[in-house]
Amino acid sequence: MITYRDAMALDLPVLVSMEKILFADSPWSMGQFKEEFKGVPRTHFFTVAVDGNNQIIGYAAVMVPAPGVEADVLTVGVLPEYRKAGIGTAFMEALENWASDKESNAMMLEVGVDNASAIALYESLGYSKISVRQNYYGTGLDALVMRKDL
Ligand SMILES: CC(C)(COP(=O)(O)OP(=O)(O)OC[C@H]1O[C@@H](n2cnc3c(N)ncnc32)[C@H](O)[C@@H]1OP(=O)(O)O)[C@@H](O)C(=O)NCCC(=O)NCCS
Repeated sequence: MITYRDAMALDLPVLVSMEKILFADSPWSMGQFKEEFKGVPRTHFFTVAVDGNNQIIGYAAVMVPAPGVEADVLTVGVLPEYRKAGIGTAFMEALENWASDKESNAMMLEVGVDNASAIALYESLGYSKISVRQNYYGTGLDALVMRKDL
């Protein structure tokens, strides 16, 4: 059974190792995770999904820099063998609920223009494409900016 809990600082080495599988092109380093994690719980929320053996199988994070401003989805990832089972959707709903509690009125995110599965996930949840950021993930790697009103 899959369950969800807040991430802990102790989880960060596991998340760093999963980055290489989930985001091979631009994995976050331990330093980047630590920097973002400093915002927990005031401005940042990190959640993990764990399987029946307490192994982390996915994670997601969002930032609301100040109460009432737009939320920025920082990351969402699920190990390949656990995909298409609703975990990404559950993560996004948890991020949206947390952002709503921080009085955000909108969610923003960037996604690779060729990341069809993630774009399909976001569209299924009501996100709209609003612009393209060229070279966001590196030369020639453009990002789509998507937004949803909360
Ligand atoms: C994007 C990702 C998080 C989706 O996670 P997931 O747990 O598979 O998502 P869900 O099972 O909740 O999927 C929800 C909906 O998204 C869409 N979707 C998800 N994966 C899809 C795929 N491979 N093809 C088409 N649609 C897809 C579907 O509409 C799906 O609904 P359905 O299962 O009823 O058809 C996962 O594929 C992933 O970790 N990818 C690698 C990391 C990544 O790119 N993250 C996003 C960075 S912006």
